[in-house]
Amino acid sequence: MIELTLEQQQLMDRADAFIRQCYQELARDEVEIERRIAEVMQQIIRTGAYEHTTEELTHGARLAWRNSNRCIGRLFWQSLAVLDARDAETAETAVEAIFEHMAYATNDGRVRPAITIFAQENKQSHGRNLRIWNHQLVRYAGYEQPDGSVVGDPHSVPFTRVCESLGWRGKGTPFDVLPLVIGAGDETPSFYEIPDELALQVPLTHPTEERFASLGLQWYAVPFISDMALEIGGIRYPAAPFNGWYMGTEIGARNLSDASRYNMLRPIAELFGYDMTTNTSLWKDRALVELNAAVLHSYKRAGVSIVDHHTAAEQFGRFEQQEHAAGRTITGRWSWLIPPMSPSATPIWHRGFDNTEREPRFSYQPKPYSD
Ligand code: ARG
Repeated sequence: MIELTLEQQQLMDRADAFIRQCYQELARDEVEIERRIAEVMQQIIRTGAYEHTTEELTHGARLAWRNSNRCIGRLFWQSLAVLDARDAETAETAVEAIFEHMAYATNDGRVRPAITIFAQENKQSHGRNLRIWNHQLVRYAGYEQPDGSVVGDPHSVPFTRVCESLGWRGKGTPFDVLPLVIGAGDETPSFYEIPDELALQVPLTHPTEERFASLGLQWYAVPFISDMALEIGGIRYPAAPFNGWYMGTEIGARNLSDASRYNMLRPIAELFGYDMTTNTSLWKDRALVELNAAVLHSYKRAGVSIVDHHTAAEQFGRFEQQEHAAGRTITGRWSWLIPPMSPSATPIWHRGFDNTEREPRFSYQPKPYSD
């Protein structure tokens, strides 16, 4: 009799569930499923872990997207391009893989959803696990001023300090793209500037108000989340940056308008001449609409993929139908699925969701630095 640790048993359960689901969805026969499960169990007994085949990795990453309760864009889960970078051992080779991902995904503006998956967590050699320290691959620096105000993105203030402590110096504009920061295990990480052509930018203009451009606003073309872990069948991938395309409200109703971010509603209301002496003029709401119109207009004009929140909500409805047709239920988190502007004008507002978290999944993990 072989003695199994609790950890091994738990991993076996998660691996078993994943392999069955994966192979059933890929229409493999029972014999093959049982053969693969036996192989995986042997690996877990011998080494305490197992390795995914390319196919398992690909389908597993797509399932993690399909299971992302906070994501309204899941209709397109099957189109996710999965880039296998599990053999990248150094920060330098990881940076190369990341740059390739960025070029592939940006695609001159016709954004393609993609994920690059680096080595799985290795508990034995903890010191070698690669981590990307950035929250997103492209993000603007935030510089705290002596008076407590911030130039740039306040969300990036702690990470900008990390970059500066490593020797990085930004220009000091409100839109300085931060460098990539990548480390192996507990070692001091290195920073790598992102070439301009890999971090596509969109200057913001308004469809009718020409003076809008004078606000000097811009945003980056592609959101690449880089600080979440990917978990497939009990295996953790701590570095697995992924991207979709933007929904306009993420930029117009959060990044540029939140009081704790770029806080632009007041300057925009001023530009449009709204009455800011009273809340009842709805100047904030009017400014939000014009800012969001500018975001959608500017991305379209620049040829960069973007979706408005009404279309995204319709697509989410189609995702649900598609899942039901496949004999599956969907899970979701209402508070994240509703768009931050006019949510009650979308069907998502008027219903509830089962917020159970299924594996494969993307999960938060502790930051590799302290704020
Ligand atoms: N909300 C984040 C941002 O504004 C991006 C999250 C992912 N978004 C996406 N469309 N895939 O930067």
